[in-house]
Amino acid sequence: MKEQEFLNSIEDLSGKIAIVTGGAKGIGLETTVYLASKGATVYVAARKSEGTDVGIEEARRRVRAATTKTSDDAGKSDGDEKIKHHDLDLSSMKTAWQSAQAFKKLEQKLDVLICNAGVSMTTLQKLSPDGYETMFAVNHLGHFAFVAALLDIIKNTADTTQDGRIIFTISDAYKQAKKLDYEKLKTSKPEDGKTLKDIGDAWMRYADSKLAIVYSTIELSNRLRNADIANIYLNACHPGNAINTTLGTGHQTAVNPTMERAVRGFLNLLIGNSTQDSAKTQVYLAGNKSIKEKGVHGENWEPEFSMFGSTYKGCAWKEYTQLGRDEEERKKLWNVTVDALRKAVGEEEIQSVETLKKLLNAGSE
Ligand SMILES: NC(=O)c1ccc[n+]([C@@H]2O[C@H](COP(=O)([O-])OP(=O)(O)OC[C@H]3O[C@@H](n4cnc5c(N)ncnc54)[C@H](OP(=O)(O)O)[C@@H]3O)[C@@H](O)[C@H]2O)c1
Repeated sequence: MKEQEFLNSIEDLSGKIAIVTGGAKGIGLETTVYLASKGATVYVAARKSEGTDVGIEEARRRVRAATTKTSDDAGKSDGDEKIKHHDLDLSSMKTAWQSAQAFKKLEQKLDVLICNAGVSMTTLQKLSPDGYETMFAVNHLGHFAFVAALLDIIKNTADTTQDGRIIFTISDAYKQAKKLDYEKLKTSKPEDGKTLKDIGDAWMRYADSKLAIVYSTIELSNRLRNADIANIYLNACHPGNAINTTLGTGHQTAVNPTMERAVRGFLNLLIGNSTQDSAKTQVYLAGNKSIKEKGVHGENWEPEFSMFGSTYKGCAWKEYTQLGRDEEERKKLWNVTVDALRKAVGEEEIQSVETLKKLLNAGSE
């Protein structure tokens, strides 16, 4: 698919407000550029760091360049104004919740929320403040708290536009996960990273964290519709194999950096996709009109590439695995997650979000 053809498949997003978690790096940065180039105001929700500042500057520069290419587009989307930083640390449910509360003081509406940030292959030196290992904490729990606190603003916006979008970035690594073992998710392994077995374990914990997001996607989506909220299109996607991002790098002391680069280079040749192409599926879920027209809810989409991953051909619906569709496992995760949120932010805070209250009372079938 030609770049222009892809851009044409995304609606004009002028006037829309979007949040991209981890939007200053890797796939998230490309997502920020696409959304802002199509006219959205994008909040890059990320931790404060020099890397975040550099990423935001790069995104602004690229949007400026993209939107002043033709006289028709000139001035349509000024990168500097369209891309803003919003402080978010997903490693604890409380900080994620507080970040969402702070956002609601800044803006009256939120059209698109892309939960893209993620960590992979981390060493397991300590547990998160919520008592879970890092990948489950950041990828799943932190995002759950962030989304939960933003439900009212998204719903209120969707009541006006009839078109709210929430996207969770999963990974097809979830297909390798086994049933979630909550005791294991609450353990840290200080020796992790020193042996090849530790690396395998870290990969499986990443897979677990992404399976948890699959369950959240289906459960939240079912509960939204059971609460008669059908104008929020909440879906998941595997982005692609963007081997050149920083995801999963530098955590494993067993891996020699030169060896790591060589393995990545080889994988890139074999199955790698460009980082830009890997942003397209989530941008599609956020901005293509067929998602609303066809009523796509709680589903998984994946990109399709030519052989060796060099050309993006579009994206398509993909059925979840049998374990991903397991209702009992999904409900277990929901209960564990809601309990963790209660402990982290307290009942009063939870009760202050009307839509969350509705979802907690709604069935999930
Ligand atoms: N790359 C791939 O091949 C691939 C394949 C399948 C799925 N994915 C998924 O795609 C998403 C983006 O991955 P990527 O490859 O673009 O990775 P990346 O370049 O490493 O970017 C990850 C982003 O997550 C942010 N992040 C990490 N910990 C955070 C925290 N505690 N609080 C807030 N933000 C945090 C990072 O911010 P900092 O700069 O602050 O660390 C960074 O912006 C992830 O969810 C990943 O699992 C990627």
